[in-house]
Amino acid sequence: MLSTVYSAGINGVEGYIVTVECDVRDKLASFEVVGLPDAAVKEAKERVHTAIDNSGITFPDAAIVINMAPADTKKSGTAFDLAMLVGILRSSGFIDQSVPFDKKCFIGELSLSGDIRGVRGVLCMVLALRDKGIREIYVPAANAREASVVEGVEIYAVSNVRELCQHLSGKRTLEPVAFDPELLKRASGKADVDFSDVKGQARAKRAMEIAAAGGHNMLIIGPPGTGKSMLAKRLPTILPDMTFDEAVEVTKIYSIAGMLPEGVSLVTTRPIRSPHHTMSTASLAGGGAVPIPGEISLAHNGVLFLDELPEFSRQVTEVLRQPLEDGEITITRANGKVRFPSSFMLLCAMNPCKCGYRGHPTRPCTCKAEDVKRYLSRISGPLLDRIDIQVEMPSLTKQEIAGLETGESSAVIRERVNRARSFASKRFEGSGVYCNAKMTPAQIRRYCVTEPEAEKLITDAYESIGLSARGYDRVLKVARTIADLDGSEKINTVHMAEAIQFRTLDRAVTE
Ligand SMILES: Nc1ncnc2c1ncn2[C@@H]1O[C@H](COP(=O)(O)OP(=O)(O)OP(=O)(O)O)[C@@H](O)[C@H]1O
Ligand SMILES: [Mg+2]
Repeated sequence: MLSTVYSAGINGVEGYIVTVECDVRDKLASFEVVGLPDAAVKEAKERVHTAIDNSGITFPDAAIVINMAPADTKKSGTAFDLAMLVGILRSSGFIDQSVPFDKKCFIGELSLSGDIRGVRGVLCMVLALRDKGIREIYVPAANAREASVVEGVEIYAVSNVRELCQHLSGKRTLEPVAFDPELLKRASGKADVDFSDVKGQARAKRAMEIAAAGGHNMLIIGPPGTGKSMLAKRLPTILPDMTFDEAVEVTKIYSIAGMLPEGVSLVTTRPIRSPHHTMSTASLAGGGAVPIPGEISLAHNGVLFLDELPEFSRQVTEVLRQPLEDGEITITRANGKVRFPSSFMLLCAMNPCKCGYRGHPTRPCTCKAEDVKRYLSRISGPLLDRIDIQVEMPSLTKQEIAGLETGESSAVIRERVNRARSFASKRFEGSGVYCNAKMTPAQIRRYCVTEPEAEKLITDAYESIGLSARGYDRVLKVARTIADLDGSEKINTVHMAEAIQFRTLDRAVTE
């Protein structure tokens, strides 16, 4: 007898529906799986067989053929195990054929004992299945919370084959998993660092507030021990809250990477990733036979922090160019292209020269002029051009630090950042853009309305600093954010002047 059961696969961060057709006939016992399965899917035969045996069900002594459609897409991973098992049990009459299956879908890996194990990418699959009209989705208990975020479908958490069979044959009823709205609230823990820990450095702090409000890329330059890494670690504490859509996007990536912490249904805090400079381009960009997201995608809607920027090889920083412009990265594989979102805020820190003390008030710099030039030239011009806010952090003596006031707390700054973001978000409704830094050229022309005096200021700067056309647009975006923090619809000279002075390092570095 033939039966059709639905399951789901993953391509990049998008799920797709897979139809598992299962034919069981009274013929010499055999078991075939067709429809472009990879090695893990082929091995499913052994898992399905043993799991059925160990669940107290007799495996049918028959010829079994399973076909997975679409047959031209390579099926990989272990998430189809459960649908194969259900198909066999249905075709062999163990599950009543009269139970409708056209709105049901099964996702999960089987263990030999008949337990159902969690798989990667469940949130992405559930979103795609809902859009295809599936209404009841059976997922491993380990993935139930993640799946419950999706509205419009009933999620059933199943832990083993026995329990699922009893439910499908009406002997026991499983209740759908209810979504807990509390889960959407921002995680309040991890408040072990605060902006008020950093004394002085008002300019750098202000720059970081602007960067957080608009999602702008930022570079901090300063001698050793001025608090660059310290300030960077505190950036997450002032980042604006994520919208629901942003949180879903981030969760999809962590779901695919298999990095969702246990019990977490939705990632509600913006990620910050700080890869070491020795990392390979592959782990930065993502890849592998079954592509998994790299650091730049794990930083999606959050921050990618490159500490000691000149230490990163050119190859690594070149990888950043496409995602910084497009907000996504394309990975080419033998069997097609995969796209991962990677719209992040880039934060970099570096010393002003190799010894680190150029411009230091007391310690002499031991670098020769050409050493300084060589050191700075390690940062590629195109990368620097994509950094909207460049700020210097001067060195402070111990006495100076001791005498300085502790500044505002992260909570106070975050409130201003949130206010500026919601002021800006009214403009972007439905456009897929969440912050000023990601505005399209058309949006820049439309929303960066400047007063004539401010216009003159940027035109003069274009000439004197030698801004590129991209740099010009980026200054406008920063000015827009400064105006948002000020609650102003128009960009005035004060906003524009502050935005322009964040670009003056272009000259110092490229000269
Ligand atoms: N403005 C400051 N307020 C309070 N503490 C500070 C400040 N600046 C530096 N410190 C102290 O100095 C330590 C070193 O700072 P941090 O590691 O951030 O320096 P850095 O600028 O990243 O240096 P490097 O260039 O060597 O990486 C901090 O852990 C902190 O204890
Ligand atoms: Mg540091």
